[in-house]
Amino acid sequence: MTGSAVGAALVVAAVAVVATTACTRTLPDAEQVGDPLPGLSDEELARFEAGRALFDRVFSVDEGTGPLFNENQCSACHTFPATGGTGEQLVIKATRRLPDGTCDILASEGGENLRRQATPALARLGIERDTLPSASADIATFAVPFLFGLGAADLVPEQALHDAADPDDLNGDGISGRVGRTPDGRVGRFGRKADVASLHEFTHLALFNEMGITTSVHSRERGPNGAPLPDGVDPAPDPELGDNSADLITDFVRMLAPPPRPTPDPDAAPLLAHGEALFTAIGCAACHTPYVTTGPSRLAPLDRVRAPLYSDLLLHDLGPALASTCGPGATETEYRTTSLLGLGARRPYLHDLRAFNIERAIELHGGEAQSARDAFRVMTTVDRQALLRFLRSL
Ligand code: HEC
Ligand code: HEC
Repeated sequence: MTGSAVGAALVVAAVAVVATTACTRTLPDAEQVGDPLPGLSDEELARFEAGRALFDRVFSVDEGTGPLFNENQCSACHTFPATGGTGEQLVIKATRRLPDGTCDILASEGGENLRRQATPALARLGIERDTLPSASADIATFAVPFLFGLGAADLVPEQALHDAADPDDLNGDGISGRVGRTPDGRVGRFGRKADVASLHEFTHLALFNEMGITTSVHSRERGPNGAPLPDGVDPAPDPELGDNSADLITDFVRMLAPPPRPTPDPDAAPLLAHGEALFTAIGCAACHTPYVTTGPSRLAPLDRVRAPLYSDLLLHDLGPALASTCGPGATETEYRTTSLLGLGARRPYLHDLRAFNIERAIELHGGEAQSARDAFRVMTTVDRQALLRFLRSL
């Protein structure tokens, strides 16, 4: 290489570094909640629409729903205020602690997801739902989360999650944060216990666990509480849904844009800015990190961008008052930080919807979040209003 070629190569390398750090684009919000990411190609938009149609589709028993299931449609649960949103259903899970301290998700007894409906063929045999596993120590209900803006969460490099984690709280700020784990020990980032690795895997799990639809990933029907299925109750051949359709559903979720933020009237702008500063100052942003940075993506709008999420995608211990079930990599009191996107457009809050308003949700933060909560408690009325106003604007 000549001297000038080396020089040119160094310049190119330097430009590349600048491009990936200093000049990272910020992902824009949707115009309306439920819209696709701005900037998709016509072909990608067609996939989004086809995926939405499958997400909205009511699957019949002949097409594979059941024999045990919770709902026959993704948007039976993810529906408000648009397809991909939240809903009133609560999904029941049961787990127990083994004597050696590990978490048993009671997969062999159907505990990880109890299905509350059966098809007529199964009901005729007297089986109408999964029953609570006898060995279960902890039973909990889990609310339906917003899926808007989650495409970016799928693209945060694993290394970035490891870098952000501080399991032994070495920086001494009282906030640790651990990387979630799947049942087979890989990095998890989806689900309230951060036990699912990717949107692709979540789609296949949701089809299987919530709707009783088998796919290439979960190809054998799960009988009542994990027992074998009686003969003749499941006529649809497995897998009941092909990979093309499952991929379309995953891509639909991936392409859902972050919900729009209301444009503040100019008078309110200083109050919102004050609320945002308080959010960082009292430590909320230590877990609810406003932005994540994505790695490379075939979808241009998600390719190496700064995307709003208000979550670090890590597990945090919020104290005994919020205890529920354990997960493969999470204790009973640990949850993945919930994204605060669209907070003003939904209610109630927390994993089981126990908090009717935002103040109550903050009040129930303990454990690693106790000092942030205590700071909220002693705020002046004006500061408190500013913070809540900011939160409702997300
Ligand atoms: C019976 C209600 C129900 C149905 C039907 C349902 N979901 Fe969900 N969904 C939930 C609940 C509850 C959670 C939270 C589960 C958890 O935290 O482990 C969830 C979580 C998710 C997540 C992870 C969100 C996050 O923040 O980590 C994705 C992705 C998802 N669902 C996609 C789907 C898709 C795709 C379908 C259809 C194939 C579907 N869901 C059907 C109730 C439902
Ligand atoms: C140590 C990490 C941590 C800190 C600090 C923290 N949070 Fe959270 N936050 C969480 C986790 C984890 C959840 C989910 C808890 C659950 O669902 O039971 C959550 C849930 C929430 C929710 C409910 C969201 C929903 O959709 O259900 C709100 C609102 C919220 N936090 C606001 C705040 C505010 C405001 C602060 C600062 C005063 C704060 N949080 C500080 C980790 C944290």
